[in-house]
Amino acid sequence: MNLFDVYPLFDVTIAKGKGCRVWDDKGQEYLDLYGGHAVISIGHCHPHYVQKMTEQLNTLSFYSNSVKNPLQVELAERLGKACGYEDYQFFLINSGAEANENALKLASFYNGRTRVLSQEKAFHGRTSLAVEATANPKIIAPINDNGHVTYLPINDLQAWKTEIEKDDVCAVILECIQGVGGIRMVEADFLKGLRELCDAHNTVLICDEIQCGYGRSGKFFAHQHLGVKPDMITVAKGICNGFPMGGVLISPKFKPVYGQLGTTFGGNHQGCAGALAVLDVIEQEGLVENAAKVGAYLISELKKMQAAGAPHIVDVRGEGLMIGIELDEPYKEIRTKLLFEEHVFTGCSGTNVLRLLPPLCLSMAEADEFLAKFKKVLG
Ligand SMILES: Cc1ncc(COP(=O)(O)O)c(C=O)c1O
Repeated sequence: MNLFDVYPLFDVTIAKGKGCRVWDDKGQEYLDLYGGHAVISIGHCHPHYVQKMTEQLNTLSFYSNSVKNPLQVELAERLGKACGYEDYQFFLINSGAEANENALKLASFYNGRTRVLSQEKAFHGRTSLAVEATANPKIIAPINDNGHVTYLPINDLQAWKTEIEKDDVCAVILECIQGVGGIRMVEADFLKGLRELCDAHNTVLICDEIQCGYGRSGKFFAHQHLGVKPDMITVAKGICNGFPMGGVLISPKFKPVYGQLGTTFGGNHQGCAGALAVLDVIEQEGLVENAAKVGAYLISELKKMQAAGAPHIVDVRGEGLMIGIELDEPYKEIRTKLLFEEHVFTGCSGTNVLRLLPPLCLSMAEADEFLAKFKKVLG
């Protein structure tokens, strides 16, 4: 049987990783400014994570959600403290799409409505409602195209106001820093305005923090730069450093109903042990602060390069270790040279934006190493 060929692949086989480095099967070392698409939060193969995962594997990796699981309770408590949402409730699933799917479902149970507002260029995943909320017609199959979602321009409060005032909007879902959309940032006044409109019209405000959250922006959540509390926050990617896990943080105004949400694998013992180890490392190593410090340095150095007339750089955007470098030409050649000549992994958005999503433990020396290699490739 062949693989279902949906991924355009680089001709590279990654065989091992450590910190912000990976090695291919021929022993070539790479600097990882991509983190396997923002998934590696605490660094590859962190010894504490490996130890805790191994211990759990030797104890119990799975039992169903029909029995008590103290690891889930501990994770909810620890996460609530770490991110400042101790009064919220936590529901665990296995991926980002599932997190958004469940958040939207819960919003609809809550207010009985079916319309969703989403941003232009949004990406929220590939399951039925999550993909409908994703502003990319190429990945919305006819069966998912059910007319629930209106896409609106980022930061254009008037456009959102007009829709929310129709009093039929179930939920507003947004990434405060758009990832796939090209590192576009939501402004504080816009989010504050949305919060007021949602309160006035019984619309649920959901922040998708799957890519921009969990410390990446230099605060635990990206929306915390903007001074607004959403009703639900969705997380995945970095929460378990590569082991599949997702979650929804749910405000106290939503009352749980037995059986309304559920999952077989979500919140399993193995994932909870890993997620607790991730929080240990984030706290012990000050990784949110590190993302703020190293990210600010990278952004300022890249902006200096742009100001000094470095070729191809049109704009530098981002917060913490979520950075977009917009180029005046398609990123393909520069990204390929970075990978095959300088051995640096980077991400991308659209056609012209290089996207940096390194592990949150990226050091200043590794940031400098990237900058030197990037300058060399730009020529
Ligand atoms: C902002 C955002 N939301 C949702 C998702 C979907 O997550 P998953 O691929 O784990 O389903 C992604 C994945 O890239 C994402 O970046």
